[in-house]
Amino acid sequence: MTRLTILTAPDKRLKRKALPIHAVTDATRRLMEDMAETMYHAQGIGLAATQVGVLQRVIVVDVEYGQKDGKKNPCFLANPEIVAREGELVWTEGCLSVPEYTAEVTRTAKILVKGLNQHNQEITIDATDLLAVCLQHEMDHLDGTLFIDHISRLKRSMILQKLKKKQQDEGRS
Ligand code: NI
Repeated sequence: MTRLTILTAPDKRLKRKALPIHAVTDATRRLMEDMAETMYHAQGIGLAATQVGVLQRVIVVDVEYGQKDGKKNPCFLANPEIVAREGELVWTEGCLSVPEYTAEVTRTAKILVKGLNQHNQEITIDATDLLAVCLQHEMDHLDGTLFIDHISRLKRSMILQKLKKKQQDEGRS
């Protein structure tokens, strides 16, 4: 497994739309494994291929990681799609591509998500609360949307400016 580099905002590659895959192949499985390795190393609970510069509709989530003795139980999904939605909730979100910032985002409370697992089998996930939030957040990434795109323009540009400055400072040192 290879640890991949996570792009951080305002990297333009995070704004691109990922393409559906035809089938989950060995190459897709390698990508999924590398993404999981990358996510766990960064202490995240979700990662989208867009965040590692791969424009394929592939995500990994593990919302229980860190809650039960560091046991890993990654859920891989290719071509995820919301097929039913209900209700609304507000959640404080963060993102590995927007380090050190969080914001409240309004999401759908309950979703039914369809997609392909790592064995190229179609699966359906009935998600509420954190899992529903995490899946919507990762699926957003596949369309080039960050959680800060859901907050006020003023707050968003403030965060992006600070991230840009931090990257410039790091580039100089
Ligand atoms: Ni994210």
